[in-house]
Amino acid sequence: MPTYPAFRIHQDAQGHHAGIEQLPRPTPAAGEVLIRVGWSGVNYKDALAGTGRGKILRTFPLVGGADAAGVVEQSAHPCYQNGEAVVVTGWGLTHDHDGGFAGYLCCPAEWLVPIPDGLDPRRAGIFGTAGLTAALAVHRMLVNGQEPGLGPILVTGASGGVGAMAVAILARLGFSVSAVSGKPELTDWLRHLGAAEVLPREALAGATRPLEKARWGGAVDNVGGELLAQITRTIAPGGNIAAIGLVGGHELHTTVMPFILRGASLLGCNSVDIPYPLRRTLWNHLASDWQPPDLEALVSETVALEGLPPVFEDMLAGRTHGRVLVAL
Ligand SMILES: NC(=O)c1ccc[n+]([C@@H]2O[C@H](COP(=O)([O-])OP(=O)(O)OC[C@H]3O[C@@H](n4cnc5c(N)ncnc54)[C@H](OP(=O)(O)O)[C@@H]3O)[C@@H](O)[C@H]2O)c1
Repeated sequence: MPTYPAFRIHQDAQGHHAGIEQLPRPTPAAGEVLIRVGWSGVNYKDALAGTGRGKILRTFPLVGGADAAGVVEQSAHPCYQNGEAVVVTGWGLTHDHDGGFAGYLCCPAEWLVPIPDGLDPRRAGIFGTAGLTAALAVHRMLVNGQEPGLGPILVTGASGGVGAMAVAILARLGFSVSAVSGKPELTDWLRHLGAAEVLPREALAGATRPLEKARWGGAVDNVGGELLAQITRTIAPGGNIAAIGLVGGHELHTTVMPFILRGASLLGCNSVDIPYPLRRTLWNHLASDWQPPDLEALVSETVALEGLPPVFEDMLAGRTHGRVLVAL
């Protein structure tokens, strides 16, 4: 029986352990598609799952990886033909279903998006969950009236996968972007992606009163905790804050003042199960009018499956930046 390599995560009598295993190649059941995975990428939750430091998997063992891009190897669904380029992110991948850190992935056809013109599997892999999440945040802000005249957009965790994507997409759309980063050595890189200015994480530290001077037209926040609270105090009237992440903490201590006196909005973003029509719309934007002019610049590193464990450690320690691609 043909096999394929996969980075598989276990939780059993030996505790958490993960590594590369050879798995038997599956045959898709009716409604499923078997993808030959070309590219995946490392997201924060992949690092939590792969190290066992976060409760990401609902069942064990599972192949890790929230992203997969490649071509259809075998289709048991009428909408997909062999050889078609497809991308899948989120849904059940690395929650209750095998993920994309593998040579093959068999999943329901409804989870797939045909890769639009303007992208190929590698470029779709560069975007991955990070790009789709940044696109979701931008979409929600635009629908809620965000426009450049409201003021600069603050992006926190700016050197991370989602943050860097948000910087690049917002700059492409004509917004002035203020990037908050704990990595001053990446200032030139963030400027190259489109940031108008790069601020240290402590830039908002003095914002302690319920309403401070309004500085930001909007914000894309990957950090949560005290930084998100500071953003609520400094957001301009009518501004939108897209809440994405919690690398700095999951609590939020603020007041209702920014919401009832400035009409600010806190927009929740969950990219895991974006409804299918919106998912296709966002991928079409990423392939065309929202695509950063230098997408390759978002890639900091490309690794094979063997290279995943050290990348997980680096990511959780805040030492990675941009997108770490996984070549299968
Ligand atoms: N809601 C969703 O659908 C969704 C989707 C994807 C990701 N997320 C979440 O979004 C966050 C970012 O994910 P990612 O994949 O982009 O991760 P990532 O690549 O590791 O980026 C996180 C960035 O946050 C900054 N950071 C790290 N530790 C910090 C701390 N203690 N305080 C302040 N800033 C810190 C760092 O940027 P600087 O050094 O530049 O400050 C780091 O590069 C995670 O919490 C993830 O779980 C949510």
